[in-house]
Amino acid sequence: MSYGLLVRPLLRFFDSESAHGMSLSLGSTVASTMVGQKLLGTLYRTPSLPVDAFGSRFRHPVGLAAGFDKRCEALSLWPSIGFSWTEAGGITYHPQDGNEKPRMFRADSDRALVNRMGFNNPGAVEARRSLQRTLDSGNWPRTPLAINIGCSKVAMADNQPEKDYIATLQQLWDFGDIFVINVSSPNTSGLRDLGQEERLSSLLDAINAFRSMRDSDHPILLKVSPDSHDDDIRMMVDVASSRGINGFVAVNTTVGRPEPTSTRSRRAFSEGGGLSGRPLATRSAEVIRIVHRQAGPTLPIVGVGGIDGPDAAWNAIINGATLLQLYSALVFNGPGVVKKIVRGLRSRLDKAGIQHIHEAVGMDVEF
Ligand SMILES: Cc1cc2nc3c(=O)[nH]c(=O)nc-3n(C[C@H](O)[C@H](O)[C@H](O)COP(=O)(O)O)c2cc1C
Repeated sequence: MSYGLLVRPLLRFFDSESAHGMSLSLGSTVASTMVGQKLLGTLYRTPSLPVDAFGSRFRHPVGLAAGFDKRCEALSLWPSIGFSWTEAGGITYHPQDGNEKPRMFRADSDRALVNRMGFNNPGAVEARRSLQRTLDSGNWPRTPLAINIGCSKVAMADNQPEKDYIATLQQLWDFGDIFVINVSSPNTSGLRDLGQEERLSSLLDAINAFRSMRDSDHPILLKVSPDSHDDDIRMMVDVASSRGINGFVAVNTTVGRPEPTSTRSRRAFSEGGGLSGRPLATRSAEVIRIVHRQAGPTLPIVGVGGIDGPDAAWNAIINGATLLQLYSALVFNGPGVVKKIVRGLRSRLDKAGIQHIHEAVGMDVEF
């Protein structure tokens, strides 16, 4: 089945969010059966290119970025279309409808999306139920699961973000392998202010106190914004490292806009919200580099933003990313993009005479 020839043109008849919903429900129905899993596995099997990070082994570096499986409902689908790991969510403690529709816009000629979803999600309690159902069904994925944690709108308004993050962590702690603290989505008013020094310190102190009281330990990562000034990114890295944060996800969507290359892109770019996809790749690699330099080689970085082929993937790695994620490329290129990236990385390593991804991480960064 060719995604580019058959599926993508069909999905164009629907608005972006409906197309997303349809792909998700079709995919998860297929992936919930043994036959479906086998079929998808045959179509999208990826070569192995192992990476060790955050206490887990990843078959290769490429995972699904946060926001695609906001309800934690399609966990068995992602490994069957080639991803080596999944970041589900973002989850907030309270259930939220998010912003009014339409709230997701495609700029096809620029391979970019603009979204202002606003953390639409079922809330931590329902997300926990959904995870438990997957576990009970025997369909739990054999790949690492990260969970993205955001802050409820009401908690932001009440100035009680710490409580909200902790309450969500409490619900989901037993299900995730890795947790990502998201203070970088542009679509919840005030959320990015949590990246200011004092507020970030107090949030991460509270999260650390929570973690130290649990029997099980899980890595906690901080997801950063491409719109922060470079000095602020360095400050966030220092605050996070001094609080025992285990790594970073760079980057979230941007409120910046490139010059559009078509009328449709111009329309999409005029919408409010965060931009993702190809135009984000350059700033993403820059932020990865800044974080890597500041954090040093012992704190792994997940590189995300405009990764849609081997070139962007390799660039993220040599600037300091150990693992990678993508969202927009799945929309524009279909699932085959994962296999294409992993194959491309394998041949880059061969050309460079390198055996393991680890040796390429930060190759282009001087300290
Ligand atoms: C519709 C949509 C929803 C998203 N939701 C979240 C979210 O809930 N939490 C988060 O940290 N990032 C979210 N993201 C950001 C992605 O995880 C990723 O950082 C960003 O899209 C850049 O990657 P890409 O260029 O491969 O799409 C969302 C992105 C999109 C397009």
